[in-house]
Amino acid sequence: MDATANTASAKLTVGDKSWDLPIHDGTIGPQVVDISKLYGQTGLFTYDPGFTSTASCESKITYIDGDEGVLLYRGYPIEQLAENGDFLETCYLLLYGELPTPAQKADFDFSVTRHTMVHDQMNRFFTGFRRDAHPMAIMVACVGALSAFYHDSTDISDPQQRLIASIRMIAKMPTLAAMAYKYSIGQPFIYPKNDLDYTANFLNMCFAVPCEDYKVSPTLSKALDKIFILHADHEQNASTSTVRLAGSSGANPFACIAAGVACLWGPAHGGANEAALKMLTEIGHPERIPEFVNRAKDKNDPFRLMGFGHRVYKNYDPRAKIMQQTCHEVLSELGIKDDPLLDVAIELERVALHDEYFIEKKLYPNIDFYSGITLKAMGFPTDMFTVLFALARTVGWIGQWKEMIEDPSQRIGRPRQLYTGAERRDYVAMAKRK
Ligand code: CMC
Repeated sequence: MDATANTASAKLTVGDKSWDLPIHDGTIGPQVVDISKLYGQTGLFTYDPGFTSTASCESKITYIDGDEGVLLYRGYPIEQLAENGDFLETCYLLLYGELPTPAQKADFDFSVTRHTMVHDQMNRFFTGFRRDAHPMAIMVACVGALSAFYHDSTDISDPQQRLIASIRMIAKMPTLAAMAYKYSIGQPFIYPKNDLDYTANFLNMCFAVPCEDYKVSPTLSKALDKIFILHADHEQNASTSTVRLAGSSGANPFACIAAGVACLWGPAHGGANEAALKMLTEIGHPERIPEFVNRAKDKNDPFRLMGFGHRVYKNYDPRAKIMQQTCHEVLSELGIKDDPLLDVAIELERVALHDEYFIEKKLYPNIDFYSGITLKAMGFPTDMFTVLFALARTVGWIGQWKEMIEDPSQRIGRPRQLYTGAERRDYVAMAKRK
């Protein structure tokens, strides 16, 4: 463990017995009480459903201050990275811990670009799906299937194989995502073009057709690249923890990332952008906002304002601010002056930010609130939104997986439980059951 040694300790008292528990300091953020030896020493488990107070690992990658609305990748504020860098630079930073020199960046871009094609037999996977399959269903399957094609990068004990697997996944996710989209609309797959940058290549694979020229808009490409930066990592969220847990058993990296994709799909996580856009469409007009806000506040109604609230941010999600600005840039580039969904979004945000319920519960717009409108304007159908999130988050998942594998104290993840089921009882033969 690299955390700073701390002489302070916490005292746990149960009945007439007490134990001292070590406290560790991180670089920034709350201290942690080390309970790793608690069970051995006391015979007690801790209970923390949803891990609201539990640090599951030590990490040097991403830091969030939810109260202040701060997000740092390797110490760099998200605002500075989104404003000045590009997505592959962010990938390098997340994977290696430092911003690349020009030579390192050129090398990294070259490696990623050279791995963008997928094995040609992967094409056949797609034809096994119905045309109306959700593209996230296709992604879960195809990302997992990569382990069936790239046997030379599944040995997790070999650093070189880990590196190649990492580059392969960053490079191939856009290709698979674009293939999932093309398949759903019945158009031929477009192969990667190595003279385009990462994000322009992705847009080309999505929107070009073989029968005519397609020119990628530099403004849209830059905006999407920024969206990818915003989504690249977010410390120990549900999908990242899933990837770490899957990886802790020694599963190969492609299988672990497929597990992350599956977890991301849920509407409380990466699926929220799709759900937020559906909600804005359902609201349809600013006049109907009070009705939906009231439903969100009603304890007996399961409805929630999608794109609002966050487990960690109890302030404005810093990504949402950048996303809102990007949304305006994209709409203006596309000449969309009056988007009814944007009108609803702006008014809903205003109403919620002034509503006692949302103020008291510290529910602010999160990144998903504006990303749906932006992606829709770019031409992506709603069910592709979470796929784009998965594409961008892949580097975060890989970086966190790599950090875990390279941590000498790493062990298989194995939470315990508070058992409240039946006590021991004897089997009753079928004929004797009433
Ligand atoms: N609308 C209305 N009420 C809400 C909302 C919402 N969007 N979010 C939380 N609440 C209320 C909730 O009912 C609860 O009230 P009470 O204390 O009276 O029971 C309180 O706020 C705390 O909510 P919670 O569910 O205990 O908080 P959580 O930290 O477990 O959940 C969340 C966080 C993001 C799952 C939740 O805020 C939510 O469901 N938001 C909508 C979905 C969404 O936008 N998700 C995207 C998250 S950002 C992208 C990502 O990281 O994946």
